[in-house]
Amino acid sequence: MIDLKSTDEVNRMRAACVAAARVLHDLSSLVVPGISTAGLDSAARGLLLRHGCESACHGYAVGRLTYPGYVCISLNDEVVHGIGSPDRIVRDGDLVSLDVVVSRDGFIGDNARTIMVGKVSPEARALCLDTEKALMAGIAAVKPGNRVGDISAAIQAALTPGGYGIVRDFVGHGVGRKMHEEPQIPNFGRAGTGPKLLAGMALAIEPMVNLGTHKIVMAADGWTARTADGKVSAHFEHTVLVTETGAEILTLS
Ligand code: MF3
Ligand code: CO
Repeated sequence: MIDLKSTDEVNRMRAACVAAARVLHDLSSLVVPGISTAGLDSAARGLLLRHGCESACHGYAVGRLTYPGYVCISLNDEVVHGIGSPDRIVRDGDLVSLDVVVSRDGFIGDNARTIMVGKVSPEARALCLDTEKALMAGIAAVKPGNRVGDISAAIQAALTPGGYGIVRDFVGHGVGRKMHEEPQIPNFGRAGTGPKLLAGMALAIEPMVNLGTHKIVMAADGWTARTADGKVSAHFEHTVLVTETGAEILTLS
């Protein structure tokens, strides 16, 4: 069962998503050479307060593990769910993926982007631009009557020419009162398959794309996913609402 948001719930989703977008926007401007990822995490803590929301990541539990950070900060070959550390320093040429999930008035806003720090390699730059384009291609496939597989196929088609590794072990998702609701939204798949989209659904669409293999390995911390071949990865995400005519991006900044 995919939840359909009422008008009141949509308005609360909008407010949560605006806060999530503002935190991500402000945090992005702090990503400069020399800052540690722990420094970014503590700055995020202040920004969450300033924008009137809470981290949905802090204390998030999977089994008996709880996420210790306020936002997810993944450097270079880290794909998702990196944890801020005083020992990880941002350098010129790095890719820094920021994933900001907030809770406000009972609802979640979820968005992510990969920041290019200074002069990045041409391949890493193309990866970032193409991953964001793939996100927008996925969003363009959102309208009532289309299916989840249409989003997946659009994302995959946008990435195929680049020969990238599309991450399979993590997927987009429905979102609302909980961070992860139905349906799952893979970043690869066949058009015309999967659940039908209806106005009132809220979806977090989030391609995670690697320069090399799609395979990932989990770090000893139990959270950080990194690429199996050590090549860089990018991640862009918006929360979108299915409207009567198409999609409304709720996390536009
Ligand atoms: N956007 C990520 C997701 O949808 C956020 C995870 S928060 C964490 O999975 F707590 F799991 F890190
Ligand atoms: Co998400």
